[in-house]
Amino acid sequence: MSRILITSALPYINGVKHLGNLAGSMLPADVYARAMRLLGHEVLYICATDEHGTPAELAAQEAGITVSEYCDKMHAAQKGAGENFKLSYDYFGRSSTPSNHVLTQHFAHRLEAEGLIEEKISQQVYSVDDKRFLPDRFVEGTCPTCEYESARGDQCDNCGRLLDPIDLINPYSAVSGSKNVEIRDTNHLYLRQSLMADRLRVWIDKAQGWPALAKSIAYKWLDEGLRDRSITRDLSWGIPVAHEGKVREGFEEKVFYVWFDAPIEYIAATQDWAAETGNDWARWWRTDKGADDVSYVEFMGKDNVAFHTLSFPTTIIGSGEPWKLVDKLKAFNWVTWYGGKFSTSQKRGVFMDQALSIAPSDYWRWHLIANAPEGSDAGFTFEDFQARINSDLANVLGNFVNRITKYAGGKFEGKVPSQDEFSGAIWGEAEDWIVSELSTRLPKLIEYYEAMEFRKAASETRAIWAAGNEYLTQAAPWTHYKTNIDQAAMGTRIGLNLVALFGILAQPIIPDAAEKILSALNVPEGNRTWNFVGEDADWKTAVTDILDALPKDHAISAPDVLFAKIEDGDVAEWIARFGGAEA
Ligand code: 2FM
Ligand code: ZN
Repeated sequence: MSRILITSALPYINGVKHLGNLAGSMLPADVYARAMRLLGHEVLYICATDEHGTPAELAAQEAGITVSEYCDKMHAAQKGAGENFKLSYDYFGRSSTPSNHVLTQHFAHRLEAEGLIEEKISQQVYSVDDKRFLPDRFVEGTCPTCEYESARGDQCDNCGRLLDPIDLINPYSAVSGSKNVEIRDTNHLYLRQSLMADRLRVWIDKAQGWPALAKSIAYKWLDEGLRDRSITRDLSWGIPVAHEGKVREGFEEKVFYVWFDAPIEYIAATQDWAAETGNDWARWWRTDKGADDVSYVEFMGKDNVAFHTLSFPTTIIGSGEPWKLVDKLKAFNWVTWYGGKFSTSQKRGVFMDQALSIAPSDYWRWHLIANAPEGSDAGFTFEDFQARINSDLANVLGNFVNRITKYAGGKFEGKVPSQDEFSGAIWGEAEDWIVSELSTRLPKLIEYYEAMEFRKAASETRAIWAAGNEYLTQAAPWTHYKTNIDQAAMGTRIGLNLVALFGILAQPIIPDAAEKILSALNVPEGNRTWNFVGEDADWKTAVTDILDALPKDHAISAPDVLFAKIEDGDVAEWIARFGGAEA
């Protein structure tokens, strides 16, 4: 057993997230956390809302409330949406908490002591009418690369290029719309990432467990020459540029940049979790306090990779203190919406709160994991969603469970058959076949989870369910019932044990259906883990035990309909409501 710390990229506070965000960090992190718990590891899964920066201020302004009220409201909404999707965070924090203020200011102080922070004058866009500087998204204008007219100061949504607000052509204030803007000098703190480039490269060279996508993004930035990065902004909402209560001179109107404090919140949220639950946060984060035993795994979309492989490690390593660094990193591509982009700002796609009015969370979880954007972008359409749910969940899993539990209910009084210890039953080819299938598939499934290969894990789970169907077709207890009840009893009994196994295996991806199956089969909580193979046993012995795990005469019932099929009419209605193909 080991200790595994898991974080998923912190969702921005500005609105409930869309399914693309869910699929590219929080959901796979949750599935991984659940699988690792089932394998007996001590897991701590941390997430939080990312509450600073211009997106929060602009959204609050649009909603007509203060930023702090807005953040309270949206934190509760995002927490609720996560709970409804059964995201099993150990703690879902907030980057605006006092602990993150203290820790962010601490890191800045340490970095400065280590010579990694420089104060220098830079040029910023200033709005004369608003009487303020316009950092990041507070300024919009025409993209210098693709000429998109509504590019935001920090990034062009059209071509994806990261921007400096002063690069925009025809800039205007996103706060008031005023075009009366000019470039003025102002002081900022810069993190001297360039001084860390060699150390980062050595660390990345050694890193294992990062997908090719993550390493290639990190090397690209290093190869282009790592630039120093400004870590303060001319804003009032955020973490003050202060140390031990004293604001830095000249920084009274400034705060730390959201991307400086957000990853630090992974640690601060752990501190908040520890304070609320009486746990020790340091054993997860300080290598001098036991965290060197921890395996730290980060989940994120590809646009977050540079921050997690270069900037945050600069903060951590540069502090000169013994903080835990990421061990494994899982980065995702995008989920596309009918070939176009999901977009929070343009409200395109399905959002987490709307999704559950369409279908239960298990349906989404299954589809998004089976179609995870791992090797490349993954397209979403309602038609694919319908096909996958009807085939995998309703036909393959649902029918299997229904068929055999109903049969046992009708013919064996709703009990695991105990007929005569199967004296008249012959262990035949069908039984040998299912043992051999499971003995190869189960260890593969576990390997896929350990390697965070989510598509493969879903596909292997489905293959195991399909093998159960194939076994029942071959064993056909119903054809033996009249002539050899022992044979029928053995087939039914193995079938019911397969149902229990399928419920146990389904837990990471479809926890609600798994719970229904396992409670219909009365499988006690303690028998739902993935502790399949003991110290000395092999997979064949383990599988033979699995197929005989439910006690004889143990009462079972048929669960209510597990998965209602998605009809063509449903798809048509959703397309009409959400817009399907891009105009
Ligand atoms: O891209 C985003 O949605 C950011 N809010 C992710 C932050 S991750 C972290 F480092 F906190
Ligand atoms: Zn552009």
